[in-house]
Amino acid sequence: MNTPKRYTITAALPYTNGPIHIGHLAGVYVPADIYARYLRLTGNDVAFICGSDEHGVPITIRAKKEGVSPQDIVDKYHKIIKQSFIDFGITFDNYSRTTAKIHHETASEFFTTLYNKGEFIEEVTEQLYDAEAKQFLADRFVIGTCPKCGNEESYGDQCEVCGTSHNATDLINPKSAITGATPTLKKTKHWFLPLDKHEAFLKEWILVGHKKDWKSNVYGQCKSWIDDGLRPRAVTRDLDWGIPVPLDDAEGKVLYVWFDAPIGYISATKEWAKRVGKDWKLYWKDKDTKLVHFIGKDNIVFHCIIFPAMLKAEGSYILPDNVPANEFLNLADSKFSTSKNWAVWLPDYLQDFPNQQDVLRYTLTANAPETKDNNFTWKDFQARNNNELVAIFGNFINRVVVLTHKYYNGIVPTPNEFTKVDEETLAKLKAYPTLISSSIERYRFREALGELMNLARLGNKYLADEEPWKVIKTDEARVQTIMYVALQISSALAILSEPFLPFTSHKLKKILNVSSSAPDSYRNENNWEDVSNKETLLSAGHQIAKAELLFSKIEDKEIQVQLDKLEATKKVNEADNKVTEPQKDTITFDDFKKLDIRVGTILDAKKIPKTNKLLVLKVDTGIDVRIIVSGIAESFTADEVIGKRVTVLVNLAPRTLRGIESEGMILMTETPEGKLVFVNPGNIKVGNGFKIS
Ligand code: 2FM
Ligand code: ZN
Repeated sequence: MNTPKRYTITAALPYTNGPIHIGHLAGVYVPADIYARYLRLTGNDVAFICGSDEHGVPITIRAKKEGVSPQDIVDKYHKIIKQSFIDFGITFDNYSRTTAKIHHETASEFFTTLYNKGEFIEEVTEQLYDAEAKQFLADRFVIGTCPKCGNEESYGDQCEVCGTSHNATDLINPKSAITGATPTLKKTKHWFLPLDKHEAFLKEWILVGHKKDWKSNVYGQCKSWIDDGLRPRAVTRDLDWGIPVPLDDAEGKVLYVWFDAPIGYISATKEWAKRVGKDWKLYWKDKDTKLVHFIGKDNIVFHCIIFPAMLKAEGSYILPDNVPANEFLNLADSKFSTSKNWAVWLPDYLQDFPNQQDVLRYTLTANAPETKDNNFTWKDFQARNNNELVAIFGNFINRVVVLTHKYYNGIVPTPNEFTKVDEETLAKLKAYPTLISSSIERYRFREALGELMNLARLGNKYLADEEPWKVIKTDEARVQTIMYVALQISSALAILSEPFLPFTSHKLKKILNVSSSAPDSYRNENNWEDVSNKETLLSAGHQIAKAELLFSKIEDKEIQVQLDKLEATKKVNEADNKVTEPQKDTITFDDFKKLDIRVGTILDAKKIPKTNKLLVLKVDTGIDVRIIVSGIAESFTADEVIGKRVTVLVNLAPRTLRGIESEGMILMTETPEGKLVFVNPGNIKVGNGFKIS
């Protein structure tokens, strides 16, 4: 067994302005949970910490939108988020919240300590102000062009495209997100953390000290920040939602959400330690504790530069050992968006796929955005379940369990002499804990999961090669050995799958009759190292339980329901994005009555050479067959429109276009992408006119 170590593992505190979606899970919570479960399983002392990030502008914006108070919003989503994490099997030791009293006290104290140590610069500066809303425009209350990458929708504190964190006054062409107005500048006093003062330390600590084991995306962002030169950052805001600045002359000012949120990790640890009778200081102040922050790439600067600078300035805390930030997961090729409802929400998933948490955990890990942005599709989800979990892992276990019952009434048989293949298979099996550990300890969770599946493949290949179902007819003694080896592989899978597929691991332990009662069965009798070290994992004579399917096939129709949901969201978003043209000048009823609109059929169509837009159409109007020149060639080929039923304005004065006389006009509208579509006359008879009523 490894010498146990103490770990403080944090997962980014989610903003409490909506439920958790699978992008959050893939980037932060699934890898963090794999890591925490693995460390516990290998005998370490772990505090796995998270909570709701309940301050900040995103909450206020959501509250305004829903017409309720920010407290209502955080109460609602804190409950939803906390429950969905539990239901999904994320094993936080504590899930706290930043509106908790203990957090307000901890964050205020932290600020006061830095203030008393003279670690802030106090300065009156001009900040963006919305005169109409009578409000300073901090953070997400202002949108403008990012000075670094040109993204026109950058927030005041951070650009989500290039990840740069800036001051709102750096934005080009800023606009208020509340009223749309161009802000003015107004003087106000704030407290700044002079990051420039910590530059030398950060350079030494990150660029020299950690470059070898930090992920290259994390190291790269930090380097570019430090190379650009660090500047003082305001840690207070003129807002009415947040932790009041604990100073006498700070009426109406609160701590910047990114000052208080990471301190939330500390307050959540304090809350947990008190509950379980531990000393929180060991987890934050003892140099033998390893602090690891799991975050998405948009949080790198806060966890690698700003929070460490705060901790260093305070003086008594340890600094993160690693910050294994992930890139982003996209949903069907588009960025996840809470405001556009472009997401697969965790509570919806749990409802639509009951008891299938591990399928999602598996897909998100197999497809984790560890080194580059990745994509989630429902088809991939289905394929990973059907072709990998069902066909490889599930199939192996099912064969082993069914055959053990068939041949031995569910009792592990006594092996006879091992062949070379048996010995090699058992030797390979014993190598898996180290293989998987080595990947997990380097934060390569995809690779680790790949190794776990290789173990299941090893089992399938062993059975396929040894064919116990055939050998049983001629050599019963040999089959005892084969099934014994296959049962050892099954048992190893039950143990080693626990960090990745905890529900499956638990089910499998029940089937193998080695289960503890709780699903977080890392306290099971066999642990990680036993797979390598123990002579046997399932002894001869041990009775296993009945076969139960570990995974079941996901049918096309279940996937179609999800695809339809996304399609519906897309349509709503397209409609929301459409800019409606202003109404044209009023016409009289008599003007309107003059329009003669009929249903027609296009009999023939040809492109007019050397034009981009024009088709010449032969149209049956019910009155006659006539020629109409129509500007639809960028949306349709000539062949596509032949036979189409259309709506025609038939009494438009003839016009000559490119030498061809056009007698009428086809009525069209357009999709949000600008593709023209025919105004569909349904099944009305050709020649029928539109009635005025
Ligand atoms: O990006 C976010 O969702 C933030 N709420 C993460 C905060 S992490 C931490 F520092 F609290
Ligand atoms: Zn940018």
